[in-house]
Amino acid sequence: MKLLVCNGSPRGRTSNTDILLKPFLEGFEEDSQNTHETVYLNSEDGRKQAITSFVQAELILIGFPLYTDAMPGIVKEFIEALVPVKKELKQFRIMFLIHSGFSEGSHTKYIVRYLDKLSRRLGGTYLGTIRTGGTEGIKVQPAFMTQKLLTQLKIMGRLLAQTGKIDETLINKIVQRERFWKIELFFSEIMSEYMFWNPWLKKNGAFEKRFDKPLI
Ligand SMILES: Cc1cc2nc3c(=O)[nH]c(=O)nc-3n(C[C@H](O)[C@H](O)[C@H](O)COP(=O)(O)O)c2cc1C
Repeated sequence: MKLLVCNGSPRGRTSNTDILLKPFLEGFEEDSQNTHETVYLNSEDGRKQAITSFVQAELILIGFPLYTDAMPGIVKEFIEALVPVKKELKQFRIMFLIHSGFSEGSHTKYIVRYLDKLSRRLGGTYLGTIRTGGTEGIKVQPAFMTQKLLTQLKIMGRLLAQTGKIDETLINKIVQRERFWKIELFFSEIMSEYMFWNPWLKKNGAFEKRFDKPLI
């Protein structure tokens, strides 16, 4: 099997999306008959190449981070550019890997319905969406914090190669929880107050303006 991988992160080759895709592809290519081509959507040329490859592909994975509760603009641009070539597409199977800076699965949950519908509207067979959270720090986190997720992604790639499907049970394990427990929320509020958001907002003179609604 040949897998077309579309990396939809504006950071391209230095993205967290690439870090998550790597073990998945390792698992997929344990069977030496499997190969992949990665295209990066973060340039005009990359998107053009992606359209050409998409038209010929039978198995596709689109990976992207959550940007403002949805996909980055380059991914949307790419999706819109697929519409005019819809009739040229082969019978393809498609899956997604989406991830968010925030940890709770609830951030990526609602985009899944869109991706399912999009796949069908393009005439493809939707295999599923792998989603995970808390990925902004993945590059700097010690191995013991990321190992479990990266291993699960490798298994996911291996299972795709063996069954042609995305494993639902594993998807749910990777998401962990849609919402934090109350105790976790309590600690994250303390951390925001003293370590992250609020000190940053204060430093930039934006704390008092944090509930402003400039577009209203
Ligand atoms: C402009 C911008 C908007 C973002 N919006 C969200 C968001 O709405 N929700 C979220 O959980 N993370 C958000 N993030 C965090 C990214 O999803 C996260 O940092 C991710 O790991 C980036 O992956 P990448 O390196 O593959 O681009 C945003 C990041 C940026 C730069």
